[in-house]
Amino acid sequence: MSKGRGIFQPNIEAFLSNFDKNLDGNIGAFQQEAYDEGYPIISQDVAMFLNMILKIKKPKAILEVGCAIGFSASFFAGVACQVTTIERYGHMANLARKNFEARGISHKIRLIEEDAKTALPKLVADEERFDFIFLDCAKGQYVNLLLHALELLEGGGILCGDDILQDATIAKPREEIIKRQRTIHKNMQQFLDDVMANPDLQSIILPIGDGLLFSIKGGICSE
Ligand SMILES: C[S@@+](CC[C@H](N)C(=O)[O-])C[C@H]1O[C@@H](n2cnc3c(N)ncnc32)[C@H](O)[C@@H]1O
Repeated sequence: MSKGRGIFQPNIEAFLSNFDKNLDGNIGAFQQEAYDEGYPIISQDVAMFLNMILKIKKPKAILEVGCAIGFSASFFAGVACQVTTIERYGHMANLARKNFEARGISHKIRLIEEDAKTALPKLVADEERFDFIFLDCAKGQYVNLLLHALELLEGGGILCGDDILQDATIAKPREEIIKRQRTIHKNMQQFLDDVMANPDLQSIILPIGDGLLFSIKGGICSE
């Protein structure tokens, strides 16, 4: 199973989890294997929501920050022409490469094995553009990556950030956060403040997974 949301009261959590469902077909089998083996992939409800959004949006170029074993990149490859995904750990990047090869989708996915802190400025310098960007890396890094991500995002493009409610602790005061999580907690609050106050974005925080930030650059009607 995917992890619980932790956002709602337990009876609502239990009620909602009755409707959780993997994606269809081979990608759903890959998703279940990843859950069974304990890899940190997106939750079932986030996968289902992104699957629907991407089918409506039909992006040409997706950028993912945080690839892990390549589950979300693999399903993005089913709906976008080209996927770029970034992963800083060699072990995870190798597993992702093997998964892309096994699925016959390596030609659609560029895997950048590097820390996003250095990879994103290079993509900006190369004047690359994406119409969907998915942040799913170390949560304390989102705030540092935001400006680069916004430069890389086309007008009308979508920015999503996963796990932004920090295991439902985001609203707790600093003293109630365990010490080693405090910087991450502060950075995530800053990231959300920056996004929600940005006049170039229309943004909403959705209570799915552990919270999903969903933003459109330049507003809904902008192209
Ligand atoms: C939650 S997992 C990604 C899951 C993946 N998106 C999926 O659903 O299939 C986060 C991954 O981001 C990687 N990561 C964390 N911080 C990073 C950074 N600054 N740059 C690149 N990769 C990073 C981690 O090594 C980890 O494999």
